Amino acid sequence: MRCSSGHAFDIARQGYVSLLRGGRNPIHGDDAAMIAAREELFARGPYRLVEQAIAGIAARVARSRPDPVIVDLGAGIGNYLAAALEKAPASHGIGIDVSKPAARRLARAHPRAGAIIADVWSGLPLASECADVAMTVFAPRNAVETARILRPGGTWLIATPAARHLAELARIDGVLGIDERKGERLAATLGDRFVEQEIHEVRATVDVTPEEASLVLAMGPTARHLDPQQRARAVESAFEAAAATTHLPLTLSVDIAEYRLAAPPAR
Ligand SMILES: C[S@@+](CC[C@H](N)C(=O)[O-])C[C@H]1O[C@@H](n2cnc3c(N)ncnc32)[C@H](O)[C@@H]1O
Repeated sequence: MRCSSGHAFDIARQGYVSLLRGGRNPIHGDDAAMIAAREELFARGPYRLVEQAIAGIAARVARSRPDPVIVDLGAGIGNYLAAALEKAPASHGIGIDVSKPAARRLARAHPRAGAIIADVWSGLPLASECADVAMTVFAPRNAVETARILRPGGTWLIATPAARHLAELARIDGVLGIDERKGERLAATLGDRFVEQEIHEVRATVDVTPEEASLVLAMGPTARHLDPQQRARAVESAFEAAAATTHLPLTLSVDIAEYRLAAPPAR
């Protein structure tokens, strides 16, 4: 790939392009084990409800716009982006993640999606006003850059865990609980660039096997705080507390905030 100033960037054999700025990048994102756990869990289905809810909103917005482009920021393995593209057949997608193992999956996520390795905190390698929908699903939010890449009237979907998300698994120290003030803080970080349209609440209980419960802990931030034995204890303790043997009823509680890019102030 070549940019307008003549810089060349290699497309990796696995299909992604690294557009990380600077030399050594201190942020690596999710590691190979976390990404593998994420891929296995999503293939098994307990998060399908969340995936379909986010994809449905993104596709609804995309279908209302000409030649729509959907950008997923911190896209992980690209399952949310792929599901949205599937529901909006005229759309194209770009997935961005700083993690190389994620980018490898992302490159295969959907025929209409491209995969880029970049750090959302150091400026997005995308043109201004190129996207109709931006999605940030359990990933870092850069409001200034997201506002820049959205076309006028564009939409930003931000999915965050709400109170009691995965609560049954949070019975031992080190399993991350949900900050109850997250919604309040989210609004504060968006400033006046975005106007809230709606908060879509996904609330469900899904039955998960012990393996699936382990995958949930292995793919998320808890994997950084607890080793595999400690995570196994968290799963055991959750099953014991629920007097469950084969399946644990697990709470999914996710808020999907839909924001519209504010019109620039009149001069
Ligand atoms: C909790 S995962 C969520 C992934 C995906 N959106 C999902 O919900 O399945 C957070 C993702 O953000 C990526 N990430 C973390 N920091 C990042 C950064 N500064 N720039 C780009 N991606 C980042 C991680 O590599 C990881 O894939």
